[in-house]
Amino acid sequence: MSQEGARQQPVPADEDTELFHVIDPQVFERRLLDELCDLTTRVRTLAKSYAGARFLQELLPNRRAMFYFTQPSTRTFLSFNNACHILGIRTSEIRDRSTSSEVKGESFDDSIRTFSSYVDVIVMRAREPGRAAQAARLMDTIDRPVPVINAGSGSDQHPTQALLDIYTLDRSFSERGGIDGKVIGMMGDLKRGRTVRSLCYLMKNYADVRLVFIAPGQFAMQNDVKGHLEEHGISFSETERLHTVLPELDALYVTRMQSEWDTADECRTVDLRRFSVGTRELGMLKPDGIIMHPLPRGPELDPAVDMDPRAMYWRQERNGMWMRVAVLLKIFRLESRIQCLDPEAFAAQDGDKPWE
Ligand code: CP
Repeated sequence: MSQEGARQQPVPADEDTELFHVIDPQVFERRLLDELCDLTTRVRTLAKSYAGARFLQELLPNRRAMFYFTQPSTRTFLSFNNACHILGIRTSEIRDRSTSSEVKGESFDDSIRTFSSYVDVIVMRAREPGRAAQAARLMDTIDRPVPVINAGSGSDQHPTQALLDIYTLDRSFSERGGIDGKVIGMMGDLKRGRTVRSLCYLMKNYADVRLVFIAPGQFAMQNDVKGHLEEHGISFSETERLHTVLPELDALYVTRMQSEWDTADECRTVDLRRFSVGTRELGMLKPDGIIMHPLPRGPELDPAVDMDPRAMYWRQERNGMWMRVAVLLKIFRLESRIQCLDPEAFAAQDGDKPWE
Protein backbone atom coordinates (compact mmCIF):
# COMPACT_ATOMS: atom_id res chain seq x y z
CA MET A 1 0.00 0.00 0.00
CA SER A 2 1.12 3.52 -0.70
CA GLN A 3 2.53 5.48 2.25
CA GLU A 4 2.60 8.86 0.67
CA GLY A 5 4.12 11.41 2.99
CA ALA A 6 5.70 8.79 5.27
CA ARG A 7 9.42 8.84 6.00
CA GLN A 8 11.09 5.90 4.27
CA GLN A 9 13.63 4.96 6.95
CA PRO A 10 12.14 3.29 10.06
CA VAL A 11 13.47 4.53 13.39
CA PRO A 12 15.78 1.83 14.81
CA ALA A 13 14.31 -0.15 17.74
CA ASP A 14 15.51 1.16 21.11
CA GLU A 15 16.97 -1.74 23.07
CA ASP A 16 16.64 0.15 26.36
CA THR A 17 12.86 0.18 26.08
CA GLU A 18 12.20 -3.29 24.70
CA LEU A 19 9.28 -5.24 26.13
CA PHE A 20 8.74 -8.99 26.32
CA HIS A 21 6.76 -10.22 29.32
CA VAL A 22 4.51 -7.64 31.03
CA ILE A 23 4.14 -8.87 34.60
CA ASP A 24 4.87 -6.09 37.11
CA PRO A 25 4.50 -2.32 36.75
CA GLN A 26 7.72 -1.76 38.74
CA VAL A 27 9.89 -2.33 35.66
CA PHE A 28 8.40 0.55 33.67
CA GLU A 29 10.66 3.58 33.53
CA ARG A 30 9.70 7.09 32.43
CA ARG A 31 11.29 6.76 28.99
CA LEU A 32 9.24 3.68 28.18
CA LEU A 33 6.06 5.21 29.62
CA ASP A 34 6.52 8.33 27.50
CA GLU A 35 7.19 6.20 24.44
CA LEU A 36 4.07 4.09 25.06
CA CYS A 37 1.91 7.20 25.54
CA ASP A 38 3.24 8.71 22.33
CA LEU A 39 2.70 5.44 20.47
CA THR A 40 -0.85 5.18 21.81
CA THR A 41 -1.72 8.63 20.50
CA ARG A 42 -0.15 7.87 17.12
CA VAL A 43 -2.12 4.63 16.78
CA ARG A 44 -5.41 6.28 17.79
CA THR A 45 -4.87 8.99 15.23
CA LEU A 46 -3.84 6.55 12.52
CA ALA A 47 -6.86 4.30 13.10
CA LYS A 48 -9.25 7.18 12.45
CA SER A 49 -8.57 6.98 8.73
CA TYR A 50 -9.59 4.03 6.56
CA ALA A 51 -6.11 3.87 5.06
CA GLY A 52 -4.51 4.04 8.50
CA ALA A 53 -6.76 1.29 9.89
CA ARG A 54 -5.88 -0.91 6.89
CA PHE A 55 -2.19 -0.25 7.50
CA LEU A 56 -2.52 -1.32 11.16
CA GLN A 57 -4.48 -4.45 10.19
CA GLU A 58 -1.65 -5.58 7.96
CA LEU A 59 1.07 -5.28 10.60
CA LEU A 60 0.64 -8.60 12.41
CA PRO A 61 -1.54 -11.03 10.41
CA ASN A 62 1.10 -13.71 11.02
CA ARG A 63 0.69 -13.58 14.83
CA ARG A 64 -1.79 -15.31 17.14
CA ALA A 65 -2.80 -14.48 20.71
CA MET A 66 -4.23 -16.66 23.48
CA PHE A 67 -6.58 -15.20 26.08
CA TYR A 68 -6.56 -17.29 29.22
CA PHE A 69 -9.00 -15.50 31.52
CA THR A 70 -10.09 -17.71 34.38
CA GLN A 71 -11.30 -14.71 36.38
CA PRO A 72 -14.16 -12.54 35.08
CA SER A 73 -13.40 -9.52 32.92
CA THR A 74 -15.28 -7.32 30.50
CA ARG A 75 -13.07 -4.42 29.51
CA THR A 76 -9.59 -5.93 29.86
CA PHE A 77 -10.65 -8.95 27.81
CA LEU A 78 -12.52 -6.93 25.17
CA SER A 79 -9.92 -4.19 24.88
CA PHE A 80 -7.07 -6.70 24.42
CA ASN A 81 -9.20 -8.70 21.99
CA ASN A 82 -9.97 -5.61 19.94
CA ALA A 83 -6.38 -4.39 20.19
CA CYS A 84 -5.35 -7.68 18.56
CA HIS A 85 -7.97 -7.30 15.85
CA ILE A 86 -6.78 -3.76 15.11
CA LEU A 87 -3.33 -5.21 14.38
CA GLY A 88 -4.58 -8.23 12.43
CA ILE A 89 -3.64 -10.67 15.24
CA ARG A 90 -5.89 -13.76 15.39
CA THR A 91 -7.18 -14.72 18.82
CA SER A 92 -8.33 -17.78 20.74
CA GLU A 93 -9.54 -18.02 24.31
CA ILE A 94 -10.25 -20.07 27.40
CA ARG A 95 -12.41 -18.22 29.90
CA ASP A 96 -13.43 -21.10 32.10
CA ARG A 97 -11.16 -23.85 33.41
CA SER A 98 -14.03 -26.33 33.21
CA THR A 99 -13.71 -26.21 29.42
CA SER A 100 -9.97 -26.92 29.40
CA SER A 101 -7.99 -30.10 30.01
CA GLU A 102 -7.16 -28.79 33.49
CA VAL A 103 -10.33 -30.59 34.59
CA LYS A 104 -8.62 -33.82 33.46
CA GLY A 105 -5.74 -33.03 35.77
CA GLU A 106 -3.42 -31.16 33.39
CA SER A 107 -1.09 -28.93 35.37
CA PHE A 108 -1.03 -25.15 35.03
CA ASP A 109 2.50 -25.28 33.58
CA ASP A 110 1.55 -27.87 30.97
CA SER A 111 -1.50 -25.83 30.01
CA ILE A 112 0.60 -22.70 29.50
CA ARG A 113 3.20 -24.63 27.55
CA THR A 114 0.44 -26.01 25.33
CA PHE A 115 -0.90 -22.50 24.63
CA SER A 116 2.61 -21.45 23.65
CA SER A 117 2.71 -24.22 21.04
CA TYR A 118 -0.07 -22.52 19.10
CA VAL A 119 0.26 -18.79 19.71
CA ASP A 120 2.75 -15.92 19.85
CA VAL A 121 1.54 -14.13 22.98
CA ILE A 122 -0.45 -15.20 26.06
CA VAL A 123 -2.69 -12.66 27.81
CA MET A 124 -3.88 -14.02 31.14
CA ARG A 125 -5.95 -13.16 34.18
CA ALA A 126 -6.05 -15.48 37.16
CA ARG A 127 -7.59 -15.37 40.59
CA GLU A 128 -4.36 -16.56 42.18
CA PRO A 129 -1.59 -13.97 42.60
CA GLY A 130 1.70 -14.80 40.88
CA ARG A 131 0.25 -17.00 38.13
CA ALA A 132 1.33 -14.70 35.27
CA ALA A 133 4.84 -14.51 36.74
CA GLN A 134 4.89 -18.31 36.99
CA ALA A 135 3.88 -18.58 33.32
CA ALA A 136 6.58 -16.08 32.31
CA ARG A 137 9.24 -18.00 34.25
CA LEU A 138 8.18 -21.20 32.51
CA MET A 139 8.42 -19.49 29.11
CA ASP A 140 11.97 -18.39 29.92
CA THR A 141 13.00 -22.06 30.18
CA ILE A 142 11.64 -23.39 26.87
CA ASP A 143 12.90 -23.34 23.28
CA ARG A 144 10.00 -21.30 21.90
CA PRO A 145 9.16 -18.79 24.60
CA VAL A 146 6.23 -16.47 23.96
CA PRO A 147 5.57 -13.27 25.91
CA VAL A 148 3.11 -13.38 28.80
CA ILE A 149 0.97 -10.35 29.63
CA ASN A 150 -0.51 -10.10 33.10
CA ALA A 151 -4.10 -8.91 32.63
CA GLY A 152 -4.74 -8.95 36.39
CA SER A 153 -3.50 -11.47 38.90
CA GLY A 154 -5.15 -11.88 42.26
CA SER A 155 -5.71 -8.64 44.15
CA ASP A 156 -2.08 -7.83 43.56
CA GLN A 157 -1.23 -6.33 40.16
CA HIS A 158 -2.83 -5.10 36.92
CA PRO A 159 0.05 -3.53 34.99
CA THR A 160 -1.68 -2.73 31.69
CA GLN A 161 -4.49 -0.99 33.59
CA ALA A 162 -1.79 1.15 35.22
CA LEU A 163 -0.41 1.99 31.76
CA LEU A 164 -3.78 3.11 30.46
CA ASP A 165 -4.31 5.10 33.65
CA ILE A 166 -1.00 6.87 33.11
CA TYR A 167 -2.03 7.63 29.53
CA THR A 168 -5.36 9.05 30.72
CA LEU A 169 -3.67 11.21 33.37
CA ASP A 170 -1.01 12.35 30.92
CA ARG A 171 -3.58 13.39 28.30
CA SER A 172 -5.85 15.03 30.86
CA PHE A 173 -2.97 17.18 32.12
CA SER A 174 -1.35 17.78 28.73
CA GLU A 175 -2.09 21.52 28.94
CA ARG A 176 -0.98 21.69 32.59
CA GLY A 177 2.53 20.28 32.55
CA GLY A 178 1.64 16.59 32.53
CA ILE A 179 1.52 14.34 35.59
CA ASP A 180 4.51 15.94 37.33
CA GLY A 181 3.51 17.98 40.37
CA LYS A 182 -0.10 16.80 40.48
CA VAL A 183 -2.09 15.80 43.56
CA ILE A 184 -3.83 12.47 42.93
CA GLY A 185 -6.44 11.02 45.29
CA MET A 186 -7.11 7.29 45.32
CA MET A 187 -10.30 6.20 47.03
CA GLY A 188 -12.07 2.98 47.94
CA ASP A 189 -10.79 -0.51 48.61
CA LEU A 190 -7.10 0.32 48.36
CA LYS A 191 -6.09 -2.84 50.20
CA ARG A 192 -7.38 -5.22 47.54
CA GLY A 193 -7.69 -2.96 44.49
CA ARG A 194 -5.00 -4.13 42.08
CA THR A 195 -5.50 -1.14 39.77
CA VAL A 196 -4.55 1.46 42.36
CA ARG A 197 -1.72 -0.70 43.66
CA SER A 198 -0.19 -1.00 40.18
CA LEU A 199 -0.68 2.71 39.48
CA CYS A 200 1.18 3.60 42.67
CA TYR A 201 4.19 1.62 41.45
CA LEU A 202 4.42 3.83 38.34
CA MET A 203 4.37 7.09 40.29
CA LYS A 204 8.13 6.97 40.93
CA ASN A 205 8.50 8.13 37.33
CA TYR A 206 6.90 11.53 37.93
CA ALA A 207 8.37 14.47 39.82
CA ASP A 208 6.68 16.03 42.85
CA VAL A 209 3.52 13.94 42.64
CA ARG A 210 1.54 13.80 45.88
CA LEU A 211 -0.84 10.91 46.57
CA VAL A 212 -3.80 11.08 48.93
CA PHE A 213 -5.26 7.72 49.97
CA ILE A 214 -8.92 7.92 51.00
CA ALA A 215 -10.13 4.61 52.39
CA PRO A 216 -11.86 3.03 55.36
CA GLY A 217 -9.23 1.95 57.90
CA GLN A 218 -9.70 -1.77 57.24
CA PHE A 219 -9.19 -1.24 53.50
CA ALA A 220 -6.21 1.13 53.68
CA MET A 221 -3.30 0.94 51.24
CA GLN A 222 -0.94 -1.87 52.21
CA ASN A 223 2.56 -1.48 53.59
CA ASP A 224 4.28 -3.01 50.55
CA VAL A 225 3.05 -0.13 48.36
CA LYS A 226 3.64 2.49 51.05
CA GLY A 227 7.16 1.17 51.57
CA HIS A 228 7.81 1.47 47.84
CA LEU A 229 6.55 5.07 47.83
CA GLU A 230 8.76 5.95 50.82
CA GLU A 231 11.76 4.31 49.16
CA HIS A 232 11.26 6.49 46.07
CA GLY A 233 10.50 9.68 47.98
CA ILE A 234 6.90 9.95 46.82
CA SER A 235 4.78 11.97 49.20
CA PHE A 236 1.51 10.42 50.37
CA SER A 237 -1.07 10.94 53.08
CA GLU A 238 -4.04 8.92 54.33
CA THR A 239 -7.51 10.01 55.38
CA GLU A 240 -11.08 8.81 55.73
CA ARG A 241 -12.46 12.29 54.95
CA LEU A 242 -12.99 12.78 51.24
CA HIS A 243 -14.61 16.19 51.58
CA THR A 244 -11.61 17.60 53.45
CA VAL A 245 -9.12 16.71 50.73
CA LEU A 246 -11.27 16.86 47.59
CA PRO A 247 -10.71 20.59 46.80
CA GLU A 248 -6.93 20.09 46.59
CA LEU A 249 -7.00 17.12 44.17
CA ASP A 250 -6.12 17.33 40.48
CA ALA A 251 -7.47 13.81 39.97
CA LEU A 252 -9.64 11.53 42.05
CA TYR A 253 -9.26 7.84 41.17
CA VAL A 254 -12.35 6.13 42.57
CA THR A 255 -12.50 2.35 43.04
CA ARG A 256 -15.24 -0.03 44.12
CA MET A 257 -15.20 -2.28 47.16
CA GLN A 258 -13.63 -5.56 46.04
CA SER A 259 -16.28 -7.78 47.61
CA GLU A 260 -15.16 -10.81 45.59
CA TRP A 261 -12.21 -11.11 47.99
CA ASP A 262 -14.39 -11.00 51.14
CA THR A 263 -14.16 -13.96 53.46
CA ALA A 264 -16.71 -12.73 56.03
CA ASP A 265 -18.74 -10.01 54.29
CA GLU A 266 -16.16 -7.37 55.27
CA CYS A 267 -17.50 -4.87 52.70
CA ARG A 268 -20.86 -4.75 54.44
CA THR A 269 -19.28 -3.04 57.45
CA VAL A 270 -18.31 0.03 55.38
CA ASP A 271 -20.46 3.16 55.20
CA LEU A 272 -19.92 3.62 51.46
CA ARG A 273 -21.58 7.04 51.41
CA ARG A 274 -18.36 8.48 52.86
CA PHE A 275 -16.32 7.07 49.99
CA SER A 276 -18.61 7.93 47.09
CA VAL A 277 -18.77 10.57 44.40
CA GLY A 278 -21.98 12.25 43.25
CA THR A 279 -23.04 15.69 42.13
CA ARG A 280 -22.32 17.16 45.57
CA GLU A 281 -18.68 16.06 45.36
CA LEU A 282 -18.41 17.45 41.81
CA GLY A 283 -19.14 20.85 43.35
CA MET A 284 -16.06 20.50 45.55
CA LEU A 285 -13.70 19.32 42.78
CA LYS A 286 -11.42 21.82 41.02
CA PRO A 287 -12.88 23.12 37.74
CA ASP A 288 -10.07 21.30 35.89
CA GLY A 289 -9.90 18.29 38.23
CA ILE A 290 -10.79 14.87 36.82
CA ILE A 291 -12.63 11.79 38.06
CA MET A 292 -11.24 8.39 37.05
CA HIS A 293 -12.47 4.87 37.78
CA PRO A 294 -11.13 1.56 36.42
CA LEU A 295 -14.71 0.24 36.19
CA PRO A 296 -16.87 -1.72 36.71
CA ARG A 297 -18.45 0.68 39.17
CA GLY A 298 -20.64 0.09 42.15
CA PRO A 299 -22.61 2.56 44.24
CA GLU A 300 -19.43 4.59 44.92
CA LEU A 301 -19.83 6.47 41.62
CA ASP A 302 -23.22 8.01 40.84
CA PRO A 303 -24.13 7.73 37.12
CA ALA A 304 -25.18 11.42 37.37
CA VAL A 305 -21.44 12.20 37.35
CA ASP A 306 -21.15 10.78 33.81
CA MET A 307 -22.49 13.97 32.26
CA ASP A 308 -19.79 16.16 33.79
CA PRO A 309 -16.86 16.92 31.45
CA ARG A 310 -14.48 16.08 34.30
CA ALA A 311 -15.69 12.46 34.29
CA MET A 312 -12.84 10.70 32.51
CA TYR A 313 -13.65 7.02 33.07
CA TRP A 314 -15.39 6.25 29.77
CA ARG A 315 -12.46 7.75 27.90
CA GLN A 316 -10.17 5.90 30.29
CA GLU A 317 -11.60 2.50 29.33
CA ARG A 318 -11.40 3.32 25.62
CA ASN A 319 -7.81 4.49 26.11
CA GLY A 320 -7.18 0.95 27.36
CA MET A 321 -7.71 -0.50 23.91
CA TRP A 322 -5.29 1.92 22.28
CA MET A 323 -2.67 1.54 24.99
CA ARG A 324 -2.89 -2.26 24.58
CA VAL A 325 -2.30 -1.84 20.85
CA ALA A 326 0.83 0.12 21.76
CA VAL A 327 1.96 -2.61 24.19
CA LEU A 328 1.53 -5.29 21.51
CA LEU A 329 3.45 -3.18 19.01
CA LYS A 330 6.31 -2.83 21.50
CA ILE A 331 6.32 -6.56 22.26
CA PHE A 332 6.49 -7.42 18.56
CA ARG A 333 9.01 -4.62 17.96
CA LEU A 334 6.97 -2.80 15.37
CA GLU A 335 6.86 0.58 17.09
CA SER A 336 9.24 2.13 14.58
CA ARG A 337 6.78 1.30 11.77
CA ILE A 338 4.35 3.70 13.46
CA GLN A 339 6.78 6.26 14.78
CA CYS A 340 8.02 7.11 11.29
CA LEU A 341 4.55 7.74 9.86
CA ASP A 342 2.52 10.85 9.31
CA PRO A 343 -1.11 10.01 10.16
CA GLU A 344 -2.26 13.04 8.19
CA ALA A 345 -0.85 11.44 5.04
CA PHE A 346 -3.10 8.43 5.64
CA ALA A 347 -6.11 10.64 6.25
CA ALA A 348 -5.42 12.35 2.93
CA GLN A 349 -5.62 8.96 1.16
CA ASP A 350 -9.16 8.40 2.36
CA GLY A 351 -10.76 10.57 -0.24
CA ASP A 352 -14.52 10.06 0.06
CA LYS A 353 -14.27 8.08 3.33
CA PRO A 354 -15.86 4.85 2.01
CA TRP A 355 -17.23 3.74 5.41
CA GLU A 356 -19.39 6.85 5.88
N1 CP B 1 -10.75 -2.42 34.77
C1 CP B 1 -10.87 -3.75 34.58
O1 CP B 1 -9.93 -4.52 34.79
O2 CP B 1 -12.11 -4.16 34.17
P1 CP B 1 -12.55 -5.65 33.86
O3 CP B 1 -12.51 -6.41 35.18
O4 CP B 1 -13.93 -5.55 33.28
O5 CP B 1 -11.56 -6.24 32.89
